[in-house]
Amino acid sequence: MSYDKTAEDVVTNLSNNLHIDQIVDRALANPNRRRLMAAGAGAAALSFLGLTGCSNSDSTSTPASGAVAPGAAAPGVTKATALGFPAIPKSLADVVTVPAGYTASVLFRLGDPMNAATPAYLNDGTDTAASFASRAGDHHDGMQFFGMTASGAYDPNASDRGLLVMNHEAITPAFLHPNGATTVNGVRTVNEEVLKELNIHGVSVIEVVRSGNSWTYVRNSAFNRRITTNTDMIISGPAAGAAMITAYSTDGTRTRGTVNNCANGYTPWGTYLACEENYAGYFRRVAATDNANRTPKEITSLARNGITGNGREGWATAVATAAGDTTFSRWNTERRGTSTNGADDFRNVSNTYGWNVEIDPFNATSVPRKRTAMGRFAHEGAWPAKVEAGKPLVWYMGDDSRGEYIFKYVSDANWDPADATRGLAAGDKYLDAGKLYVARFNTDGTGDWLEIRFGVGAVTSANTTYAFANQADVALNSRLAADAMGATKMDRPEWGAVDPFNGSVYMTLTNNNSTLRTLANADAANPRFYNDPRTTGAAQRGNPNGHIIRWVEVASNPGAIQFAWDIFLFGARSTQDARTVNLSGLTAANDFSSPDGLWFGRNGILWIQTDDGAYTDVTNCMLLAAIPGALRDGATVTVANTDGTTTRNVTTYVGAQLGETKLRRFLVGPKECEITGMAESADGRALFVNIQHPGEDTRPDFTTRTFGSNWPDGGTSRPRSATIVITRVDGGVIGT
Ligand code: FEO
Ligand code: CA
Ligand code: CA
Repeated sequence: MSYDKTAEDVVTNLSNNLHIDQIVDRALANPNRRRLMAAGAGAAALSFLGLTGCSNSDSTSTPASGAVAPGAAAPGVTKATALGFPAIPKSLADVVTVPAGYTASVLFRLGDPMNAATPAYLNDGTDTAASFASRAGDHHDGMQFFGMTASGAYDPNASDRGLLVMNHEAITPAFLHPNGATTVNGVRTVNEEVLKELNIHGVSVIEVVRSGNSWTYVRNSAFNRRITTNTDMIISGPAAGAAMITAYSTDGTRTRGTVNNCANGYTPWGTYLACEENYAGYFRRVAATDNANRTPKEITSLARNGITGNGREGWATAVATAAGDTTFSRWNTERRGTSTNGADDFRNVSNTYGWNVEIDPFNATSVPRKRTAMGRFAHEGAWPAKVEAGKPLVWYMGDDSRGEYIFKYVSDANWDPADATRGLAAGDKYLDAGKLYVARFNTDGTGDWLEIRFGVGAVTSANTTYAFANQADVALNSRLAADAMGATKMDRPEWGAVDPFNGSVYMTLTNNNSTLRTLANADAANPRFYNDPRTTGAAQRGNPNGHIIRWVEVASNPGAIQFAWDIFLFGARSTQDARTVNLSGLTAANDFSSPDGLWFGRNGILWIQTDDGAYTDVTNCMLLAAIPGALRDGATVTVANTDGTTTRNVTTYVGAQLGETKLRRFLVGPKECEITGMAESADGRALFVNIQHPGEDTRPDFTTRTFGSNWPDGGTSRPRSATIVITRVDGGVIGT
């Protein structure tokens, strides 16, 4: 074990990848090269990346130029330099706790009606399936606030009125029906229950307005809209066509619905990206029988994307009463028909999921589009880089499974601000043609973006694992292509966030376990292996507390193919060993586990949300605020990992410890929830936060009305996922 502050250039690169000085030598084809090289390799590389002097320091106080997207630094907004609230303690109470001087109000709960005709939610399991086409869905997740003018147009700088768009990732079936989901011998026998669940997933668009310092959603707004698993959608981009053919769309250009929309994204033209995460589990495909009807390539593709099993909610087992009604059978993705192309069954329906879905919230009748150029995997979210006129648009994306990858998409078209009002037509221009890259994190602290393109590297028809046919096949099988390119397996990528002032990119790696990432497989970018014992003494080995990685692109160019990285922050109990686990020096005021949501306010505060199962013996999930420094502001550290028997040293790059002045706990949620999804009014005076699945772990007892949580309605009520809005009592900017 050693914890030394030696320079990063002493690290030995054991891979075949480029050293940082080689990157400088290769990429720095400009008149400054000689001067930079004279400064020494490490210093030259940092200079090349724009990290010396003050250009990337946390004293930078002016927003990135040309930024127009929501979430980008707004004109006149200065960078926060201090947190203006007292840290709150960890808590196991069934309430939302925020600091003194702040108010948290419930805004939009599971079942809340979205038009005047829909009655108030009874929350006893009897609310009808049909009514959920006009009610809030469950498991509120990724979210975006789109400011709106008085005439109903998108205005990223509007604060008093806007459209709040959010995902409803999943459901807690126990609370949706009178006595939980009805299943007989593995078959869903009550169609009303299944129809309700199909309507509860998807996306909500609601109009929200501010009056004084309080917010309400407009129940009868013409903008309000539910998008569900049944909504018609266009398949757009390179993968549209043959592999998407179903009985619903015999030319492979349409599909129904979206599901498991986790985190989100947005565009500079005011549209929303609902990202399809763990879609695979919803489909029924009994591999033991279906594989006999599949080609070897299909079997490889289905296995790599996890499309096997009975379907997590059993939707495909329900039997429709009307002939030809495929509402339930479309969730069976087995080959059952006799056609050669799939036009007579739904064998290909799972191919129509796993994408980013673009939705225009300002046009309630628009047809959402699945943007296949952005790749197919367990899409957590899509976070735009700094938007600049005349340059490509870039989105960063994570594949949320243990041992999966980090991607980025770079549009072929250069940004033209005149497209900011063109809605989905702008999406056709920027999101249907671009380059998809996957990240390789090198041992020496550099990284490479590896392009995933047919004919590049091992992504060819000669590949022996999977013989890629064309670019459509590559888009559909982004994971297999990323495997072929040698991407780095990560400890479960969740949310990303781009610093609106300096363009640094942050991404949570929520956790990993000792089964899926062993001590032997710890590497520089996923460097810890340890035991996090619960208060009961039960062992939790691997990286149960997670970390947050950070990178800066070469020359601060989001379209660059090389970058440098470090680890911004490690989750840990504050009581853990400071040299092997609590590497970020967390204290009782800011310790946390399993970072998931990650989001920058326009003033540069980085908000960290947790979705944790490791530290839950001590605290419910939480929201923290950080004022981050800059890449490589910390130390090179060698971590002595152990599984209790073997010790293995891993060297990595740890960001500067923030201390309690720059990292504080801001909110703790109710029991058994996760905190996920954030948005703010443009002026930063309202913060919207989602509380997902309170009470989901405890088996409910409907006779005694014993539930794991009664939040938000209290008493003996069933718990409800909900959006809350946080304001300051004095009306000021949140966090400062
Ligand atoms: Fe839905 Fe990645 O958490
Ligand atoms: Ca998540
Ligand atoms: Ca999570």
